[in-house]
Amino acid sequence: MLASLLARQPFARRIVIAFTLMTLVVSGVFSLGIVAVVYSIESQLVTEELGREMDTVLHEDLPSGQRPRLDARTRFFSTALPESPLPEGFAALPEGFNELVRDKEAYYVYVRDLDGQRYVLMEDQNEFEERENALFNTVLAGFVLSVLGAWLLGRLMAHKVMAPVSRLALQVRHRDQLHPLAPPLALQYADDEVGHLAAAFDSTLGQLRQTLERERLFTADVSHELRTPLMVVLGACELLSASDLPERSRRQAERIQRAAAEMQALVDTFLLLARSRPEQQVAFGGSASLAEVAGEQCERWAPPMRDKGLAFEVLHEGEDEQTYNHTLLGTVMSNLLRNALHYTEQGQVRLVLERGGFRVEDSGVGIPADQQERMFESFVRGAEGRGEGLGLGLSLVRRICAHQGWTVEVQGREPCGSCFTVRLVP
Ligand SMILES: Nc1ncnc2c1ncn2[C@@H]1O[C@H](COP(=O)(O)OP(=O)(O)OP(=O)(O)O)[C@@H](O)[C@H]1O
Ligand SMILES: [Mg+2]
Repeated sequence: MLASLLARQPFARRIVIAFTLMTLVVSGVFSLGIVAVVYSIESQLVTEELGREMDTVLHEDLPSGQRPRLDARTRFFSTALPESPLPEGFAALPEGFNELVRDKEAYYVYVRDLDGQRYVLMEDQNEFEERENALFNTVLAGFVLSVLGAWLLGRLMAHKVMAPVSRLALQVRHRDQLHPLAPPLALQYADDEVGHLAAAFDSTLGQLRQTLERERLFTADVSHELRTPLMVVLGACELLSASDLPERSRRQAERIQRAAAEMQALVDTFLLLARSRPEQQVAFGGSASLAEVAGEQCERWAPPMRDKGLAFEVLHEGEDEQTYNHTLLGTVMSNLLRNALHYTEQGQVRLVLERGGFRVEDSGVGIPADQQERMFESFVRGAEGRGEGLGLGLSLVRRICAHQGWTVEVQGREPCGSCFTVRLVP
């Protein structure tokens, strides 16, 4: 239990606790040892001294008919002498050395049984007791001081030992460390365990920097390479529509031009999304209204819905005056509408516009409640996943929403189908 409690503490505190605990045990054992030794020496010395006195009394004083010759602190009792009878309670004491505390007074009592009689010497031990108490107090003070000292020393040591580790943690956490020109960390540390850790971080950070650089170059390349052919397509379309074309061909050229322009906007936005770092995420603004984007998406999705025999309708349940990023809102809406079309065999699909958001409802196969959250992960498709999908649509929708501060959630519908709700206000 102590080990698990220790494991949960910060490293520096663990050092302090270990220091203090060790001193507590060592100095505690020493203090108890001193007390035990003092007590044993005390009883040994007093037994010897009182034994000698008892011998004098029994073998010299009493046989010669004298009163026992004793100092003022010692008194003699015996069952054999009527003038100094045994006080109450002394009959029950074991033979040999005893300590007796009576009316706040402390005595040594030495008992000897001889020829059926009991002889007792009682010596006042107050003076010794005082000295003994002083010694015990000194031992106690030494114990407390050494524990306190160990705690202080532990704190100092822990601070010193942990300083390089804390510094390394701070440096690794710092964002500048990912900068391509950031100096290596290992050079700033001694060649010890912390130095090795710093070297390991250097190598990992180096790999991370390379990966980031590769990704940055990749997005730059894609942006460059896709933009050029798109510009060519757009330029050619412009020339075509300016030339003398029959009406039908002109309409086709205009469709190509619109699709190419849309593609260009998508490429730009996705590159921006890919490049934006999580810490500097700023929602992209825009000038398109919800109704405007919905109108465009309807134009795009109404024909395939009709071809599949689905009833498609747009409902306005509330006016929305806000403006949004055209490409991102269009991408979210078109992915949800495409899924509705894809996963509905019969019945209807509805796009419901509300104040600050919209819903896409269908009467299709629906998603089991326990799988709804998982469908928003990349490359995850449901059991009904059909056709060429990759399982990226909903994950893209969620990433765009997270970036823009929007939310998207899905609910099942009765008796069948699903309802995707997007809230465009934070
Ligand atoms: N309206 C819906 N009705 C029923 N199931 C749906 C609906 N929308 C999504 N799903 C389920 O969620 C899964 C993930 O959808 P998602 O759009 O992420 O990928 P996808 O449609 O399979 O492929 P794609 O990458 O082409 O979009 C789908 O495979 C499907 O099982
Ligand atoms: Mg999809």
